[in-house]
Amino acid sequence: MAAEGIVDLIGNTPLVRIRHLTEHLPDSVEIYAKLEYFNPGGSVKDRPARQIVLDALARGDLGEGKILIDSTSGNTGVAYAMLGSSLGFEVNLVMPANVSQARKDIVEAYGAKIIFSDPLEGSDGAIILAKRTVENDTEGKYWYADQYSNPSNPLAHELTTGPEIFRDTGGRITHFVSSLGTTGTCTGTGRALRKLKPGVQIISVEPDAAFHGLAGLKHMDSSIVPAIYDRSVPHRNLSVSTEDGWDYAELLAAKEGLPVGYSSGAAFAGALRVASEIDEGVIVCVFCDHIDRYLPPRKMKK
Ligand SMILES: Cc1ncc(COP(=O)(O)O)c(C=O)c1O
Repeated sequence: MAAEGIVDLIGNTPLVRIRHLTEHLPDSVEIYAKLEYFNPGGSVKDRPARQIVLDALARGDLGEGKILIDSTSGNTGVAYAMLGSSLGFEVNLVMPANVSQARKDIVEAYGAKIIFSDPLEGSDGAIILAKRTVENDTEGKYWYADQYSNPSNPLAHELTTGPEIFRDTGGRITHFVSSLGTTGTCTGTGRALRKLKPGVQIISVEPDAAFHGLAGLKHMDSSIVPAIYDRSVPHRNLSVSTEDGWDYAELLAAKEGLPVGYSSGAAFAGALRVASEIDEGVIVCVFCDHIDRYLPPRKMKK
């Protein structure tokens, strides 16, 4: 059946079993990945961007002539830009100047405008500059989407990602592993799974250091903590190094046919750690985006 527009093609992404990189595990321990790069904007962030935009349109916040503005390390920006071009509103994105060229090119192709923040200040610098831009907006031309505080962000995952995972594992999921950026994926999916299957374990993954190379992720102790972060959702938190995230991203491309971004490598490292601790279980992790967002990728080590 034909879709009415790109907005209807977000979600219902595939779940795939990881086979080769799990060969050392007993058959009774299964790891699956939800391939969020199958979304039309190429990342998990299509889901919260859609919910944020549709909720704002329903409230009338993003009415005639208003410009959506938000800070983003890239993927949410691509999603907003795609929705803006499809639904007909302007998009301004505050991004650290060092986000990959691929991301800048994609959002500009959709017609969005980029406001660059200090690369040394990372995603927090983009948040601060977005807030300042909105505060100085005397004409009231902006609507500030604020993905870090907007409850529509986790709600998107509570309504879609969680139920899809429950459905596609036939209710067998025992552990959910999710990386932390805005925390929307972990918080919303975790909430849904806890309701659908009490006893399921929710595990968050974050970088092990303030300065890290896991694009999209936040080291909470050294960052502005997102208002939507609900620490009661994950049962435990794992720290993953940049090296492990990068190495597993390379291995997933080379051994599984899954050319994912570095946060996916980190989530998989977390899933393997959980797998090493149990005798049986069905672990699901989220692969948030595709390596093409980071081109040219780090040279493969042989
Ligand atoms: C590549 C990537 N991985 C992981 C995340 C984290 O997802 P969330 O913001 O839902 O915590 C993001 C968020 O921007 C991302 O872009």
